[in-house]
Amino acid sequence: MTNKMWGGRFSSGPSEIMEEINASIGFDKRLFAQDIAGSMAHAEMLGATGIISVEDAEKITQGLSKVQHEINEGAFNFSRSLEDIHMNIEQRLKDIVGDAAGRLHTARSRNDQVATDFKLYVRDCVDELDGQIAGLQKALATKAAEFAGAVMPGFTHLQTAQPVTFGHHMLAYVEMFARDRSRFADARKRMNESPLGAAALAGTSFPIDREVTAKALGFDGPSRNSLDAVSDRDFVMETLAAASISAIHLSRLAEELVYWSSVQFGFIRLSDRFSTGSSIMPQKRNPDAAELVRAKCGRIIGALTGLMVVMKGLPLTYSKDMQEDKEQAFDAFDSYSLALAAMTGMISDLTPNVEKMRADAGSGYSTATDLADWLVRVLGLPFRDAHHVTGEIVGLAEAEGKGLDELSLEAMQKIEPRIEQSVFDVLSVEASVASRTSFGGTSPENVAREAKRWLKKLG
Ligand code: ARG
Repeated sequence: MTNKMWGGRFSSGPSEIMEEINASIGFDKRLFAQDIAGSMAHAEMLGATGIISVEDAEKITQGLSKVQHEINEGAFNFSRSLEDIHMNIEQRLKDIVGDAAGRLHTARSRNDQVATDFKLYVRDCVDELDGQIAGLQKALATKAAEFAGAVMPGFTHLQTAQPVTFGHHMLAYVEMFARDRSRFADARKRMNESPLGAAALAGTSFPIDREVTAKALGFDGPSRNSLDAVSDRDFVMETLAAASISAIHLSRLAEELVYWSSVQFGFIRLSDRFSTGSSIMPQKRNPDAAELVRAKCGRIIGALTGLMVVMKGLPLTYSKDMQEDKEQAFDAFDSYSLALAAMTGMISDLTPNVEKMRADAGSGYSTATDLADWLVRVLGLPFRDAHHVTGEIVGLAEAEGKGLDELSLEAMQKIEPRIEQSVFDVLSVEASVASRTSFGGTSPENVAREAKRWLKKLG
């Protein structure tokens, strides 16, 4: 049997393998709601402009509502021989309303149809993801407010650098996710032009009203070039790029949760709800959720890379290659959404081990910079000289197996005679973080204020 939709000039149907490689219904059925919304807007416009009769337009929209209902109820029979979601819906519409269904595809092609459907889908994803990222930011800012003054080691090169607070660390991620949200919002703004009415590639001779369909579908207006409209998949690539960058942020945070929760670090305890046991080692609590969040990043970047490779070198306008734009994107958005949910749960539930973090913050001469700054501020040494003197004092402390604040004043004075008792005011980790009051610095006062500001902003 030849294809019912386009088989007019064919004498036989496709081979089994042709059907298998050609069909997209297995995955593009996800677009059913967007496809029906696009068809409704198109049918109403065709009726309003007199391109089809108002009665036919009404029959079509009523029939589409019925199709929508059937799909929602799980009562719709998807058929591979009908290739994709567009033809599956149109065929069912024909069963329901008869000949009027054949008029729906006037002044339209599957090329502008699929571009419209997918854009609507990606736009819906962006809107949903934005709410989810905001939820994660809220969980992070809540922890930050609670632990604004909890001292932990700050690292560079994963070596203890200077004391910071746990709240400050949480808020670093709040900033990253804020940038991610603005990247998604940016992509949304740019994608919000309607391809519908570009038809196959050249536009149409029918007197359609693209402004009306664009408005009905929530677009800012119609896209201005029909060739571009059916060829453009920037909106998917750009959204996947935003998701990839954000997935990198999730992955970095996940990595920190993994090592923070190790026995060796012991900075945090993940809740039972987000840990798993080992089938052989009874003592284990594994951070599987964090590891999987870290790994999901690979799939998301993979989807971006995959689509960029598909698009690269495609001549204008539509080529069937572009059908390969969907599956990986669906998977990437699902994975990213799940990773966000898991991270939000882990952050909300985790308990920092304040004592362990504080103890580690004091090791590794983390207040050496405070000592150098004191030498500059109180004794007027040039910073480079202060750095040198501090290095000698650290060397002495190391030789005696002591922390900086455990050295005697006399010992320090052997290296720099002008050092006085007040130096001890800056050598504790608490004094160190409290002094970092510069804008954006880690002082508990700053952190508490920032956490409060974020929580208010996030509502
Ligand atoms: N299933 C197709 C896709 O996802 C729909 C567009 C088909 N267009 C065509 N000219 N064959 O890209």
